[in-house]
Amino acid sequence: MTRTHDGASRTSNHRLLAWVDEIALLCNPDRIYWCDGSQQEYDRLCNEMVESGSFIRLNPEKRPNSFLARSHPSDVARVEDRTYICSEREEDAGPTNNWMDPRRMKQILKGLFRDCMRGRTMYIIPFSMGPLGSPIAQIGVEITDSAYVVVNQRVMTRMGQPVLDALGPDDAFIPCVHSVGTPLQHGEEDVPWPCATNIQDKYITHFPETREIWSYGSGYGGNALLGKKCLALRIASVMARDEGWLAEHMLIVGVQPPEGKKIYIAAAFPSACGKTNFAMLIPPPAFDGWKVTTVGDDIAWIKPNTDDGRFYAINPEYGFFGVAPGTNAESNPNALAALNANCIFTNCALTDDGDVWWEGLTKEPPEHCIDWRGQDWTPGSGTPAAHPNARFTAPSAQCPSIDPEWENPAGVPISAFLFGGRVSKHFPLVFQSYNWEHGVYMAATMGSEATAAAIGQAAMRRDPMAMLPFCGYNMADYWRHWLRIGRRNVATPPAIFRVNWFRKDEHGRFVWPGFGENMRVLKWVVDRCNGRSSAIESPLGWVPGYTAINWQGLDFAAKDYFAIMNIDCEVARHETNDQEELFTRFGDHLPREMEIQRELTLLRLFHSPEVWDLALVPHLEDRPARPQTV
Ligand code: GTP
Ligand code: SPV
Ligand code: MN
Repeated sequence: MTRTHDGASRTSNHRLLAWVDEIALLCNPDRIYWCDGSQQEYDRLCNEMVESGSFIRLNPEKRPNSFLARSHPSDVARVEDRTYICSEREEDAGPTNNWMDPRRMKQILKGLFRDCMRGRTMYIIPFSMGPLGSPIAQIGVEITDSAYVVVNQRVMTRMGQPVLDALGPDDAFIPCVHSVGTPLQHGEEDVPWPCATNIQDKYITHFPETREIWSYGSGYGGNALLGKKCLALRIASVMARDEGWLAEHMLIVGVQPPEGKKIYIAAAFPSACGKTNFAMLIPPPAFDGWKVTTVGDDIAWIKPNTDDGRFYAINPEYGFFGVAPGTNAESNPNALAALNANCIFTNCALTDDGDVWWEGLTKEPPEHCIDWRGQDWTPGSGTPAAHPNARFTAPSAQCPSIDPEWENPAGVPISAFLFGGRVSKHFPLVFQSYNWEHGVYMAATMGSEATAAAIGQAAMRRDPMAMLPFCGYNMADYWRHWLRIGRRNVATPPAIFRVNWFRKDEHGRFVWPGFGENMRVLKWVVDRCNGRSSAIESPLGWVPGYTAINWQGLDFAAKDYFAIMNIDCEVARHETNDQEELFTRFGDHLPREMEIQRELTLLRLFHSPEVWDLALVPHLEDRPARPQTV
C-alpha cells in the first residue's frame, strides 16, 4: 500500500517529517492525517465517531455540540502499575517508579507497535503545552490511532497548524507515540472503544534522557492524552530539574481581597482530592468583595524570575479533564457552567432526554438512564450510573471564573504553595511551615488515603507533593531540587501551607464543610502572605487562632474549630517515626535537610503535651502578624 501524506506542505521541520515516516513504517497505518486543529476538523471527527458508535451526540438543546463516550470496562483510569520511567540508570528512576532498561523497553515497544495501526488512520497532532510562544511553553507532537484522542487533545491543548507554524525548521519537539493497540483486519468492524483489554498489555513509558513518550493499549485520560501527565509532568519534571524550574501537579488560583493586592496561589492535592473544586471556589456571601479566579486545575509550570526574584507559573493546559461525579451547583457552579456546551463526557450516564448524569449532579437521581456500561439503570440498580472516575473534557475559556491572566505567556507570580491530602483522622485543617526547608519536608511527607472504602480503616499512602505517580526521576533528587530552587534567584521563597479538608468524626462524617467554605482558610493564607494576620506556633507549624479566621455566616463554634486543629502528639510522633521508612528507601539520594526536619519535628512533639490544643493557648488574639512575602 502506498501511503501518501501532506506533511511536507505543513511543516519544514526535518526531524518531524523523518520521525513521522519512521513511525508510519513501524505502525503501518492505512492513512496518515495531519491535524490542523480547526473547528471543521473537530466537527467532522466527532460526526464520524457518532456514525461509528464511539460517540453519542447529546441533546443539542440541552448541551450543544457535546458528546458522550463509554470506555471499555477495562480502560477507566490511569494504570500506575503499567507506567514506566526508562532512564539509563535504575537509580535515576528511584524506588517509587517502575523502571525498565530503555533498550529492553524499546525492544518490547517495537514488537508491540509493529503493524499496530493496520486498518486505522494515523493522526499527527502538533500541540503546545502553554500559550503558543510563551518562553515557558513546550511543543510536543502526538502520533495516535485514536480519533477520540485527537478531539480531546484539541480541547486540552493548543493544537494544530498554528503549532507547526511556531515550530521552526530545526526546533526540537517532544515526540509522543500512542496506539490503542488493536489493529483491524481487512474488513473487520471496529468496536466503540478499542484498547488492549488485558492490563498486562498496556504500557505507558517514558524515556527521560531522550525526552520521548510511548503509550500502548489504553485510550483513557492521562494514559492517552500524552501532553498531560506524560509530558507536562513526567518528562517536564526532568526538564525542570535540568533547567531550574518546577513542573507540578498543582492548581493555580488568583485571590483578590476587597482591598489590597491580588495574589496567586498554587496548590498540590493528589488525584481526586479537590483541585478542580478549589481552583473554581466561590467565596461564601460573608466574603463580600473577595474574588477567586482560576488559572489552572491540574498542572503548573513554575519558573523563578531572576529580575524580580519571584516564581511565575503558567497552566500548560487549555482545558479541564475533571472528575464528573460530585460536581453540582453547590460543590462547583463554575465547573457546571463550563460544561454547558462543547464538551466531551466519558463514562457518564445518559438520561432519557439525551443529557448526561452522574452521582451527585442532582439530589434526586433520574428514574431511568443508561449507565456508563450502556445498560439500563434505575436508582434501585445498586451500581453507580456513572463510573466513579467519569470525566468531562471542557475548554478552560468556558469557565466563568477563568482569570484574565490565564493565558499570559509570562505566567502569574506565586505567593504561596498549599499541599493537601485526604486524611480522615488526627490531622489539622491548616498549618504553615516555619520556613522553606520545613515546608519542603511537609510536602515530601504528605500522606493521603487511597480509598474512602472502610471507615476509620483507610489505607494511607505517601504521596510527596502529590507527585508520586508523576515524578519522572528519583523522588529524593526531586526534593533536593525543591530545596535548592527555593532560594536560588529568589528574594524570598513562597510561603508553604498544609491543608486537610477531609477530617472525619466518629460517625465517619466530614467535620469541615469544605468547598466554598475553604475560602475561610484561603483568606488566612492570603492574609499571611500579605503580612496581615496572626499565627500561633504549634509543634507542626504556624496555625491560625480562632479569631484569625472569618467565621461570619458559618455556624462553626470555637470548640469545633479546636477539635479539627488539635494535634494528638503521640499519633503525630508515630506518624513522624513512620516517615523514616520512606526516607531510608532513597539511600544516599536523600537530602540531609529531610532527616534533620524529621528529627526536629520528633523533638518538638516529644516536648509537647499529649494533645496540643488551641483551647489551651492563652491570649490568642495578641500574637503579632508575621510578613511572609516581599
Ligand atoms: P485530578 O483531576 O484527578 O487530578 O483530581 P482533582 O484534585 O482535580 O479532583 P477533584 O477536584 O475532581 O476532586 C473531587 C473529589 O474531591 C470529590 O470526591 C469531591 O467531593 C472531593 N472534594 C473536593 N473539595 C472538597 C472539600 O472541600 N471537602 C470534601 N470533603 N471533599 C471535597
Ligand atoms: C489525575 O489522575 O491526576 C488526573 C486524571 O488528573 S488523568 O489525566 O487521567 O491522569
Ligand atoms: Mn491530576
